[in-house]
Amino acid sequence: QTIDIQLEAIEKGGYDHFMLKEIFEQPKSIGDCLRGRLQAKEGKLVLGGIFDYVTKMVNADRILIIACGTSWHAGLVAEYIFEEFCRIPVEVEYASEFRYRNPIVNEKDVVIAISQSGETADTLAAIELAKSKGATIIGVCNVVGSSIARATHAGSYTHAGPEIGVASTKAFTAQISVLTMMALMIAEKKGSLSESKYRSLLFELESVPDKVSKALLLNDQLEEIAKVFKDARNFLYLGRGFNFPVALEGALKLKEISYIHAEGYPAAEMKHGPIALIDEEMPVVVIATKDSSYEKIVSNVQEVKARKGKVIAVVSEGDTEIPKMADYVIEVPHISDALMPLIAVIPLQLLSYHIAVMRGCNVDQPRNLAKSVTVE
Ligand code: G6P
Repeated sequence: QTIDIQLEAIEKGGYDHFMLKEIFEQPKSIGDCLRGRLQAKEGKLVLGGIFDYVTKMVNADRILIIACGTSWHAGLVAEYIFEEFCRIPVEVEYASEFRYRNPIVNEKDVVIAISQSGETADTLAAIELAKSKGATIIGVCNVVGSSIARATHAGSYTHAGPEIGVASTKAFTAQISVLTMMALMIAEKKGSLSESKYRSLLFELESVPDKVSKALLLNDQLEEIAKVFKDARNFLYLGRGFNFPVALEGALKLKEISYIHAEGYPAAEMKHGPIALIDEEMPVVVIATKDSSYEKIVSNVQEVKARKGKVIAVVSEGDTEIPKMADYVIEVPHISDALMPLIAVIPLQLLSYHIAVMRGCNVDQPRNLAKSVTVE
């Protein structure tokens, strides 16, 4: 038993939990995912696994993204990215809904199935269904040789390394990294992005691991914020545009490991419901980085403050406007809108981690949850 305990401590690499280790591994896991594929100086992207299917993707009438849980959130980020860069319509589907509703799919559709484990039963069944209707299936999996990886026509692995914590962290950022590379590759072939925009995005993507390292320096600050809010009964997470799925993911992380009820919402949609819940007891995490939605989200923050909600804002470095209104300000390095989810999610992962630890929860193995859901 002593040997087992020591082995586990070694595996955790000096961290208290696998989840924290995996959060801190992200500069490396994203780097591993990009390595050899992203060649910014040469203006090249090489995703060998989908090489034969790029033309098919370029000519797709639409792209259907199928996934569950955190992978579904990566799919939502990808929807914004593919539509923006490739101008191809995208639909993001919960695998469990898709498989049971007689979906309309044909040979011109490209399905992207996202799964960390590659074993999620609903995702696998949805793939089989889409395949039987003639669609081309592209996989984005972490586990090499997994059932989903084998069921797809082609795909790109995320290469994030084994993820042990049940709550997904490094797999999520690796999934977004792969999907961003896919979108850029298609956009370049399709000519839907200008050459200069394409090239500058490649360089920005290359800078992501360093920017994630900088965001990880916020750890102590997030631990302090966690102390203030660890006993909250509810949390609201708001974001717009590319950061809307980040709000969903932040809320999911908190629910999963701390058992605090949390909801993620598109910030403007708040007035159609959640605003009724806001009072001085309600922490509201707002992702308000400098992007095309910035001015809009400033007014959403004002709406929350007018109702005495406690605002924890994730902002771009150097922002001066939101800090005047927010109760807590978390500054992340700036990057283009489309790549911000990779950076903005880091403080949210850390916040949920620290709150869960302070509440005495089993961070790596939360109650009732499984790492891989192989039953429907
Ligand atoms: C479970 C896990 C989640 C994961 C989801 C989808 O719910 O606890 O972390 O996001 O399954 O899993 P997959 O392996 O398909 O990404």
